Amino acid sequence: MTTGNSNRANPRDSREGGSAWAHIMRGLWRTPLGVFAIVMTTASITLMLIGMGAELLGFFENPYVGIFIYMILPGGMLLGLLLIPVAAYLRRRQWRKTRIAKDHLQLDLSNPKHRFFLIGFVVLTVVNMVILGVVGYEGYHFTDSPYFCGMVCHRVMAPEYTAYLRSPHSRVSCVECHIGPGAQWFVRAKLSGLRQVYAVLTNSYSRPIPVPVEALRPARDTCEECHWPEKFYGKKVKQFIRFTDNDQLTPEKTEIALHIGGHNPVTGSFEGIHWHVSKDVKVQYLAANEKRTGISRVRVTRPDGSTDEFVNSDIKIEDGYVPKWRTMDCIDCHNRPTHIMDMPEDVVDFGLLSKKINPKIKGIRADGLTAIEIRYTSQDDAGKNLVNNLMELQKKRNAVQAAKYEGDIRKAGEYLLGRYLGNVWPDMKVSWGTYKTHLGHRYADEGYGCWRCHDDEHENKKGGTISQDCSFCHDEPE
Ligand code: HEC
Ligand code: HEC
Ligand code: HEC
Ligand code: HEC
Ligand code: HEC
Repeated sequence: MTTGNSNRANPRDSREGGSAWAHIMRGLWRTPLGVFAIVMTTASITLMLIGMGAELLGFFENPYVGIFIYMILPGGMLLGLLLIPVAAYLRRRQWRKTRIAKDHLQLDLSNPKHRFFLIGFVVLTVVNMVILGVVGYEGYHFTDSPYFCGMVCHRVMAPEYTAYLRSPHSRVSCVECHIGPGAQWFVRAKLSGLRQVYAVLTNSYSRPIPVPVEALRPARDTCEECHWPEKFYGKKVKQFIRFTDNDQLTPEKTEIALHIGGHNPVTGSFEGIHWHVSKDVKVQYLAANEKRTGISRVRVTRPDGSTDEFVNSDIKIEDGYVPKWRTMDCIDCHNRPTHIMDMPEDVVDFGLLSKKINPKIKGIRADGLTAIEIRYTSQDDAGKNLVNNLMELQKKRNAVQAAKYEGDIRKAGEYLLGRYLGNVWPDMKVSWGTYKTHLGHRYADEGYGCWRCHDDEHENKKGGTISQDCSFCHDEPE
C-alpha cells in the first residue's frame, strides 16, 4: 500500500536526481503514505498556528476549540512527522528490492545538495520543536485551567463548577486543591484524568459523582499552601438567619462565636476547633462505612506522645466495608470548602431577607419551598414549569392575592428558578442535599458533622468521652 510502482515505469528518476537523498525526498510525494504524512504535518501546523493566534486574539470562547488546538492537532503533527521517515524507509526498501537504488545512503558535506538537505533538516526540526514546545506549554496550562476542568466535561462537572464559581475559592484553580504541587501527583492526576475522559466518552461515570473522593490528595499538602493552622486565632462570629412559614417578615437570628482556635498565649498550647490539625497532634479514626457517616473508633496522639482511644461499640462496621484508619485533616470538617451546595430553606430564606421574594405575600415561603422541591425531570423541565408551578400554588391558596401580586410572584419564581439551576442537576442525579457538609451539626441525624465523634458516647478506658457540651465549640458572642 505504501509504495506506488511509478518508479519502475519511470527509470529516469534514478539518473536525473543523482543522489539517493534526492530520490527519497522526491519519491515521498509519489507514495500515498508519504503524501498523507506531509499533508498531515503541514495542515496540522498551519491550523495550530492559526488557531493559537485566533485564540490569543480572543476569537474563541469554546473549550472544544482548545481540545482541538492543543490536543488533536499536535497529535496529528507528531503522527505526520513520524510517518515521513517511515514512508521514506519503505520507499527505499522497495527501490533496493527492484535494484533501482544500489548505492548506500551517504552524506557528503562537500556536496551543496547534501548541505542544503542537512541544513533544511536541522532548521525544520528546530522549527517543529519550537512549535511543539509552545503548543505543549499552552496545552499544559489549558488542561490545568478551571475552564478545562469545568467546561470540557460540562455535563459531568456542572454541579461542581457552578458551586465553585460562587464560592470563596473561585479564584483558586481546581488543580490547586485536586492536584497540588509536585511531579508525582501531577502524573497521577493526568493518568486518572485520562481514565475520567474515557469514562465520559463511554458514558460510564457515576451519577452523582461519589464522595468522599478517595484519591483526594491529603489536604495538608494543598490547603496549607495557603492556610496555616498555626495562623488561626480567636473566635469567629457567625449569624444564622431563618424565617418560618408563620413569620415571613421578622427573622429568627442565631449568633454564635466559634472557637476557631490557635495558640493560647497563657498556656502556650494549641486550643479550639483547629486543635485537630495542629502540629503535634494526630487524630485518627475508623469509619464504619464508605461515606464516613459513622465513626466507630477515634485515636488521639497528644503532643507528649501519649495516645488515647475512644470507642463507641454501638456503631457497627457496615457489611462488606473494610475499615481503614484515616488521619483527620481539613477535609473531614471542610468537605465542601468550595463546592458549597445550598439547601432549599437557605434559598427561600435568603430570598425573603433580600426581598427578592416579597415577604408580604402570604404562604410564599411554603409554596416557594414546594415549587423548588418538585422532582423536575431536567433543568429544562424546571425552566419551563417552576415559575408556573409557584403561580398555581399561590392561586390555589388565594386567587385574589395571586392576582394582586402576580408580578411579584413571577419575580420570586424567577429567583427560585435561578437558585434551582445552581443546585439541582437531574441528569447527574444531583439534588438538594445530595452533597452535605460536615461543618457543624446541621445534618447530624444523617451522620454528618462534628457530632459523629462529639456525641458523649465515644468512651476511652477511663470513661472519658468526646464532649458534646455546647460551649465546647461555640458560645454566645459578647
Ligand atoms: C478549595 C479547594 C478546591 C477547589 C478550588 C476545587 N475543589 Fe473540587 N473538591 C474539593 C474537595 C475538598 C472535595 C472533596 C469532597 C469530599 O471528598 O467529600 C472536592 C470534590 C470534587 C468533586 C467530587 C464530587 C463532589 O461534588 O464532591 C469534583 C467532581 C470536583 N471536586 C471538581 C472540581 C472542579 C471541576 C474544580 C474547579 C472548577 C474544583 N473541583 C475545585 C476541593 C476543591
Ligand atoms: C491557592 C490558595 C488556596 C488554597 C489551596 C485553599 N484556599 Fe481556602 N481560601 C483561599 C482564599 C483566597 C480564600 C478567601 C478569603 C476571603 O474571601 O476572605 C479562602 C477561604 C477559605 C475559607 C473561608 C471561607 C469563608 O466562608 O470565609 C475556608 C474555610 C477555606 N478557605 C478552607 C480551605 C480548605 C479546606 C482548603 C483545601 C481543600 C483550601 N481552603 C485551599 C485560598 C486558598
Ligand atoms: C475539626 C474540624 C475542622 C478541621 C479539622 C479544620 N477546620 Fe477549619 N474550620 C472549622 C470550623 C468549624 C470553622 C468555622 C466555621 C465557619 O467559618 O463556617 C473553620 C474555619 C476555617 C477557616 C476560616 C477562618 C476564619 O477566621 O474565617 C479557614 C481558612 C479554615 N478553617 C481552614 C482550615 C484548614 C486549612 C484546615 C486543615 C489544615 C482546617 N481548617 C481544618 C473546622 C475545622
Ligand atoms: C473524627 C472525630 C472527630 C470529629 C469529626 C471532630 N472532632 Fe473535635 N475532637 C475530637 C477528639 C478526639 C478531641 C479530643 C478530646 C479530648 O481530648 O478529650 C476533640 C477535641 C475538640 C475540641 C477541643 C480542642 C482543645 O483541646 O482545645 C474542639 C473545640 C473540637 N474538638 C471541635 C470540633 C468541631 C467544631 C468539629 C466539627 C467541625 C469536630 N470537633 C469534629 C474528635 C473529633
Ligand atoms: C463539636 C463542636 C460543637 C458542639 C459540641 C456543638 N456545636 Fe453547635 N455548631 C458547631 C459548629 C462548627 C457550628 C457552625 C456550623 C456552620 O458554620 O455552618 C455550629 C452551629 C450551631 C448553630 C447554628 C446553626 C444553625 O443551623 O442554626 C446552633 C443553633 C448550634 N450550633 C447549637 C448547638 C447546641 C445547642 C449545642 C449543644 C447541644 C451545640 N451546638 C454543640 C459545633 C458544635
